[in-house]
Amino acid sequence: MPARSADRPAAVLLVCLGNICRSPLAEAALRAEAAAAGLALEIDSAGTGGWHVGEPPDPRARAVALARGIDIGGYRGRQVARADFARFDHIVALDHENLRALRALCPEGARARLSLLLDHVPGREGEPVADPYFGGPEGFETTWADVTAGAAGLIATLRGAG
Ligand code: 4NP
Repeated sequence: MPARSADRPAAVLLVCLGNICRSPLAEAALRAEAAAAGLALEIDSAGTGGWHVGEPPDPRARAVALARGIDIGGYRGRQVARADFARFDHIVALDHENLRALRALCPEGARARLSLLLDHVPGREGEPVADPYFGGPEGFETTWADVTAGAAGLIATLRGAG
């Protein structure tokens, strides 16, 4: 990957376990919030696990996004790679388990800054976005609310960073 220059948009990678539930929704929410804010960003999502590589998002995640007029059916799961730590300015984990996995993978001197998504929401620092995979569809509504709040907070963080 070539080095990023200062005039390029900031690049943000959102990371959960499977890349089929939470991080695709976080990607969709951040795309929507960035567009609404008029902020150019490079945005992607990935999973720390490799079970769902190449798969579309979970149908329950897709339904929650579609209910807001956003089609994430074209997204495909991928696993975090060491090259991501050079490509992205911010790698944002949805929960602590994935933040730990990212810290373990992160090469020395990486460009990416690691954080937890809800660290960007005042009053919710340190909170995880709960994994909705083994629950019912209502859990995905909570996920959408959490990732929307996190996306708005992340935009504020990025604006503050200039
Ligand atoms: P995600 O949810 O990390 O939000 O995409 C999960 C998806 C799949 C699995 C676990 C969590 N799984 O065990 O296959």
